[in-house]
Amino acid sequence: MAAIDLIQPTDSCLHITWDDGVESWYPWLWLRDHAHDEATIHPVTQQRQLDTASLPPDLRATSAIADDSVARLTWQGNAEVSEVPVDFLRRFRTPQTARLGAAPSAVVWDAASISELAVRVAFDSVMGTDDGVRQWLTTIARYGFAIVTGTPTTTSATEDLIRRVGYVRETIFGGFWEFTADLSKADLAYTNVHLSAHTDGTYSHDAPGLQMLHCLYFDGTGGDSTLVDGFKIADVLRATEPELFAVLSTVAIPGQYIGDGAHLMSARPVFRHDHSGALVQVSYNNSDRAPFLLPADEMAQLYEALRAFDRLANSESMQWRQVLQPGDALLFDNWRVLHGRYAYTGKRTLCGAYLNHEDFESRLRMLE
Ligand code: OGA
Ligand code: ZN
Repeated sequence: MAAIDLIQPTDSCLHITWDDGVESWYPWLWLRDHAHDEATIHPVTQQRQLDTASLPPDLRATSAIADDSVARLTWQGNAEVSEVPVDFLRRFRTPQTARLGAAPSAVVWDAASISELAVRVAFDSVMGTDDGVRQWLTTIARYGFAIVTGTPTTTSATEDLIRRVGYVRETIFGGFWEFTADLSKADLAYTNVHLSAHTDGTYSHDAPGLQMLHCLYFDGTGGDSTLVDGFKIADVLRATEPELFAVLSTVAIPGQYIGDGAHLMSARPVFRHDHSGALVQVSYNNSDRAPFLLPADEMAQLYEALRAFDRLANSESMQWRQVLQPGDALLFDNWRVLHGRYAYTGKRTLCGAYLNHEDFESRLRMLE
C-alpha cells in the first residue's frame, strides 16, 4: 500500500508524490467538496450536505500536512481546516471516469469453456447463509448465470429464493409468474415452439436486469434451455467484424410489445456502452423488433450485422444447453446472456420473475 512521500500545495491543486513514484493532483475544489466532516458529507448516508456551487471558484489551501491516516488542509481567507483521509486520497490516486464498482469482472465463455460445475449452488446454502447468496451472485456476475439446485418445486419456494436477491419487478406479465403453453397469451413464451436466442424486454427502456426460470414440472420431450454469452459475441465481432460491431453499437433498434392492454416501445443498439466505453448491455429479440426504415445503404449494413450476430447467438459452439429439471432454478443476467428454448412436446410448467439490474448490483455491494 503506497504511502505519501511528499505533499505540496500548488496554485490549483494539492500535489502528492506517493512512495511508489505515482504522482496525484487533487484540485482544491474537489478536496473541499470531499472533506470528511459532517457538514460536508453525512457520515451515515454519505449524502453531500455542502452547497458545492457556492464555493469560491478560486478556493485554495495555504497549507497542507498529512500523517499516515489524514491530510489537513487550511483554507485561505477563513483559515477553516478540512480533513481528508489518506485512504480516500489513495482510492483516487489516478483520475478516471465514474466507476460503479459493484461486481467482480465478467469471465466470457463459449460452449467449450463453460464448465458445468462452476455455475451450480445449492438451494439450502443460498437460503441459509449470506455466504451462499454471495457465491450465487458472484457466479452470475462472472458468467452471467447460475443454477440453484434442489429448489423445492413450488412457486412459494421459488419466490422465497428470488427475495434473497431483491424485490420482484412488476411488469406487464405481473410480478411473480407461472406459465405453461397457453395460446391465449400475446407472447411466444407461452407456446411450445422453438425460441431462438433473445433477450427479454427490448421494448422496455429498463429491460429486466435478471430473469429467473424455474422448471416446476416437465413430462415430455425436447425443451432444452439454451444460453449464450452476449459479451462473448461482442468479443468475437469486435475482433473479426469491427465495422459490423460498430453498427451494432450505434444503430438504435426499436422493440415493441403489443398485447394485454399495452403497447410498449423502446429503442437502443444491440451493444450498449457506458460513458467509459465499457459494454454494459446486450439487447436482441428478432421477434419483438418494431418496424423502422433507415437509408437503404445503412439498412443493408444493419441486416448484415444482425445476420452475423444471429449466427453467433444461435451457434452450438457458443451455447450452454441443458434441459432444466424440476428443482433447477436458473437465474441469468438478461443484460448480458441471451436465452432460448428448443421446441417440446408434453406438459411443461415454469415459474419465475424479473429483478432489476440495479437491485442485483446493490445486493452484491452489500455482501462485499
Ligand atoms: C421467456 C422464455 C424460455 C422457456 O419466457 O422469455 O424465453 O424456457 N422462456 O420457456
Ligand atoms: Zn425470453
